[in-house]
Amino acid sequence: MTTHVASESVSTDVLVIGAGGAGLRTSIELAKHDIDCLVLGKRAHGDAHTIWAAGGINASLGSLDPEDRWEIHAADTLDEGHFVNDPTAVEMLCRRAPDRIRELAEWGMAFDRTDAGTINQRYFGAQSFRRTCFVGDRTGQALMDTLVQKAMDLDIPYRENLYITDLVTEGGRAAGAVGFDMDSGRPVAFDADAVVIAAGGHTSLYRRSSSRPDENTGDAQALAFEAGVPLRDMEFVQFHPTGKVKPEAEVGHLVTEAVRGEGGRLYNTEGERFMERYSPAQMELDARDVVARANEQEIREGRGTENDAVLLDISHRDDDYVHERLPRMVEEFAEHGVDITAEPMEVAPTAHYAMGGIEVNFETAETQIDGLYAVGECTAGVHGANRLGGNSLIETVVFGEVAGTHIAETLGTRPSPALSEAAVRDQVAAQDALATADGRHAPGDLIERLRGLMWDHAGILRDEDGLLQGLRALQQLRADADDLAVQADRTSRRYERAQNLGVMLTTAETILRGALERPESRGAHARTDHDTKDPAWRQNIRCLPAGDGNMDIDVAAAGTPSRRVQEAVDEEHELDYHHLE
Ligand code: FUM
Repeated sequence: MTTHVASESVSTDVLVIGAGGAGLRTSIELAKHDIDCLVLGKRAHGDAHTIWAAGGINASLGSLDPEDRWEIHAADTLDEGHFVNDPTAVEMLCRRAPDRIRELAEWGMAFDRTDAGTINQRYFGAQSFRRTCFVGDRTGQALMDTLVQKAMDLDIPYRENLYITDLVTEGGRAAGAVGFDMDSGRPVAFDADAVVIAAGGHTSLYRRSSSRPDENTGDAQALAFEAGVPLRDMEFVQFHPTGKVKPEAEVGHLVTEAVRGEGGRLYNTEGERFMERYSPAQMELDARDVVARANEQEIREGRGTENDAVLLDISHRDDDYVHERLPRMVEEFAEHGVDITAEPMEVAPTAHYAMGGIEVNFETAETQIDGLYAVGECTAGVHGANRLGGNSLIETVVFGEVAGTHIAETLGTRPSPALSEAAVRDQVAAQDALATADGRHAPGDLIERLRGLMWDHAGILRDEDGLLQGLRALQQLRADADDLAVQADRTSRRYERAQNLGVMLTTAETILRGALERPESRGAHARTDHDTKDPAWRQNIRCLPAGDGNMDIDVAAAGTPSRRVQEAVDEEHELDYHHLE
């Protein structure tokens, strides 16, 4: 085997890894400031996970409920996050959201409008007012279309089918990254003065997930962690209440919360509208963790369908209304013979979103490594222990603008080390070694084992024994991953999966360790052996890289909201669900 340096070297001021909403909005801000940047995506331009976000994007515009204001949006976000969110992040998100929405509208995003012409807003779970702006049930697609068009108008360079394997730092500062071109198989080195990680979440770690199988594999988190950045809140994984259970190829895919936001009702097979028992005040629009656990309990206790599902029904609404508000759902279910205007959908919980991730200073979007930034789902802090539906899309554009602005203000004022040849050679050698690995275990098989392990041991319900078993099984998987059978070049799906496996193991371990460390139930982290919330645990758990692949854990008290936001919290706003009936 010959080890070579990268066969292609690219230099740019700012390297943006990830081409969804967060990466594109960051690059647009950079371009507005005439900063040279290059956006990398693993897939074609516009084909990012953002398009799978369906139901909407939040901002306290007050189009239908004028009493809404950003402080109440912040209070709802903290409440849903069980007060382990980063209060600065929450405040920035909610204050800035209306401007970002108006900007998207100016850039051509075709938001649904009220009769008065203002941006329409729908109900979404656990929000005190109608605050979720939308484009039917294709809001993520519309957001991406808008950002891609804007990026193209600004001539922002984009490189597709590019896999990043390592970040490179020199003297404690970001210097670039190394990866490979998935079309040509050539290793590529990127020299950059600043690097932005915007590569999404990790819920592909779970057997049933709303992610596409080879995406959201936790690359972003593992890349940052391996570069020395702490991960935080990793135990908080959101299970969306309503994922598909069939056909096989679509298991886990999202049935948007907009169905419930437009009045959809959940039933068990006994015909009972069971949310009356779990949450009589907020019903189907209670927090996602509450509704997801209710669905799970109904299924586990034998009141689910033969496909282990509960029933979600919107057929009491007018057909035209359902077609207008939920066109994608109508179409997707019709393809498999289900007319949702006339019959219910079978749904079950699915892993949907990573609240945990890379620790950043939200005022700048920078990590503790100078020149290394992170934006979007890959970060931790905005959502705390659970996320409000509709807050993920707005996070991408709010903090993309923050990152781009900070980079523009500081680029050139700080040292920018060059990428060293030795670092590149080491990373390329590791890529080569993986390509030629001739052990016994197929990467895809180990990934499937990992997904099962995470679903069974770090899923919607956890306990200490299960988490410990999960960690032991993970150690065995690590041993098997040292004996991989790859023998494939860099253009193959097998090689991509071998790379995915490495990052997935790292990210999975931080989730298991975080979940073990938190002996309480809070938001999406539900421990059957500690089933109440413990006020002493209003803390954030951080996983720290300890060298040689080891991890340390530390715990820090969560921050306190500002006076204005605390006042809104104390006002105890809450959705009156029965408006929908
Ligand atoms: O259900 C949904 O449409 C999901 C939206 C979100 O996660 O923000």
